Amino acid sequence: MKRLEVKGKGAFDFVCSEIASDKSISHRCAMFSLLSDRPSRVRNYLKAEDTLNTLAIVRQLGATVKEEGDEMVITPPESLKEPEDVLDCGNSGTAMRLFCGFLSSLKGHYVLTGDKYLRRRPMKRVVKPLREIGAKMDGREKGNLAPLCIRGESLRAFHYESPIASAQVKSAMILAALRADGVSTYKEPELSRDHTERMLRGMGANIESWDTITVEPLRGPLDPLEISVPADPSSGFFFAVAAAIVPGSRVVIENVTLNPTRIEAYRVLERMGARVELVEKENRYEPIGDIVVSYSGRLKGVEVSERIAWLIDELPALAIAMATAEGESLVRNAAELRVKESDRITCVMQGLRACGIETEEFEDGYRIIGGTLKSAEVDSCGDHRIAMSFAIAGLVADMKISDVACIETSFPNFTVLLSKIAEVKEWK
Ligand code: S3P
Repeated sequence: MKRLEVKGKGAFDFVCSEIASDKSISHRCAMFSLLSDRPSRVRNYLKAEDTLNTLAIVRQLGATVKEEGDEMVITPPESLKEPEDVLDCGNSGTAMRLFCGFLSSLKGHYVLTGDKYLRRRPMKRVVKPLREIGAKMDGREKGNLAPLCIRGESLRAFHYESPIASAQVKSAMILAALRADGVSTYKEPELSRDHTERMLRGMGANIESWDTITVEPLRGPLDPLEISVPADPSSGFFFAVAAAIVPGSRVVIENVTLNPTRIEAYRVLERMGARVELVEKENRYEPIGDIVVSYSGRLKGVEVSERIAWLIDELPALAIAMATAEGESLVRNAAELRVKESDRITCVMQGLRACGIETEEFEDGYRIIGGTLKSAEVDSCGDHRIAMSFAIAGLVADMKISDVACIETSFPNFTVLLSKIAEVKEWK
């Protein structure tokens, strides 16, 4: 089991152009390229375990993938192929749920599986609405758990009101709607990340989003993607927290997506007292620019109970900021954290308690009493974001983190970048 040891080395000024490319956008680039009849050209595709698995699945469906410099050229087949083997999504809930929507209307037989963590995560949230419009799907526990099998069928148009603000559910349903027998509508309780709508619209799909999303079925192949994947604000956020908690520090995260549905955690860090500047540089599919975060005194406790979908992936790193802050912080309405790559409420609170921080757990969140982190040994629970969050805690108190191989799922060069601002040791 790979472990990490991190020790701070004081203030830093770090200009970073190598934050991992956006995971959500990369998954979608691979999958959506199958909706065109011409090659898509994708610069800076994320080469991490999750997104390489998605690319492998796209190949199993008949696409060819060629690398030309920093560009990935994904050429769709004339018609998609029924795969000869199971489709392995690894650790990625995004891949599995989006493929459910994508494949359920495609003639053929498909089996989706994943690693032991993904095989524990609930799939009913996509299986149920897809079955309601005619999808033939099954899995363990009446279709809730992978492996899932799909027998592609014609799907009916729908009007679906989702009980959860989830981009994965929304994207699965939009992908299904593209091949349904009429115009469909989808409503969510709160806007979730909207890469699917932006990218498909950019490829020429007829998707309107306002309060409700309206999707017209495809009339033919879409335009190919011509895209440069921006840096991932969720990956950049580990370094944002680092700059906000180490006195005298600053980080510049370059060429990151500034999509408002992705950068809410930076707003929270600003509310806690850090200095945060956003500089927009271009806008194609998404606004893209630099984020500068600087230390500006000890952070203050904060309450977070709204726009949870916009910062759900950043809550583990934010918990480290909360633990160092003056006063109490409270997170509510975040029950979704319990069904991520791990139960992130239990695992993060367990880690913080090991660091001597007082916490209280609720079904849908937690309270953290800010204080001084103590040096500790923390278990990542096999969850990449927990491993990286406690690695950042190592900047203010020496940390040993166990089971860190999971970092490869989203941010393979994390330890290389961390070693520019900290002493980092890795051992098996
Ligand atoms: C993602 C959506 C979010 C997020 C996940 C990536 C996506 O999940 O937590 O890391 O790319 O669509 P939910 O849609 O389940 O909230």
